[in-house]
Amino acid sequence: MIMKKRISASILSADFTNLGKAIRQCEDAGVDWIHIDVMDGHFVPNLTMGPFIVDTCRKITDLPLDCHLMVEKPELLVRSFADAGANNITIHPENNPNVLRSLELIHSLGCTPGLALNPGTNTIVLEPLLPFAMLILIMTVNPGFSGQAFIPEMVKKVTTTAEMIQKQDPEIILEVDGGINAILIPDLVQAGANAFVSASSIFKHPGGISEGVLSLRKAMDKKNYG
Ligand code: DX5
Ligand code: ZN
Repeated sequence: MIMKKRISASILSADFTNLGKAIRQCEDAGVDWIHIDVMDGHFVPNLTMGPFIVDTCRKITDLPLDCHLMVEKPELLVRSFADAGANNITIHPENNPNVLRSLELIHSLGCTPGLALNPGTNTIVLEPLLPFAMLILIMTVNPGFSGQAFIPEMVKKVTTTAEMIQKQDPEIILEVDGGINAILIPDLVQAGANAFVSASSIFKHPGGISEGVLSLRKAMDKKNYG
């Protein structure tokens, strides 16, 4: 089956003095999701946004809010994110003994349960969890900050994950996050990715947000592969 390809704009690099304008520009440029990077200062060495920002984004846009929780004990937080208007809630299995329970909780709250793997986490972890996830996110940098360089070894991991998804349920979304740009996208599409998170390539694009989104979209729609 042909999956829709999506762009998820990570507001981590947006101008927070004018978040509303930045999100509306993303909307006008045709992004599919707004990606919200939640970091707790423990799971990753950075502290960012909580449900309050999700609630703020919900007031700005009707686009689906793609919430990526890089936190310890996500089970304690998912309800607040669902109440604030999250659509996708993606959690990490690393350092999380309650990952399956958390995925079930996210689903029961009416959100899309997602599972994210750090670069050093083997895809074998996905085997028992795939039936409980509707989205898999492969981190292509070590999580914590925007603006880092893509780790090339992750392309093979995307291929492996795509094969597992094809066997389990081809409707599971395969998202990539970290250092994504227009040059890398064709290889990632060929590897099987269909949702592309980007902060820098959108919000730091020299031509502005709309040009950044357009260049990612063109790269996704290139027909010269596969
Ligand atoms: C990193 C975050 C990413 C980050 C991507 O930990 O999960 O979503 O914002 O930023 P870029 O696209 O600049 O690598
Ligand atoms: Zn993210």
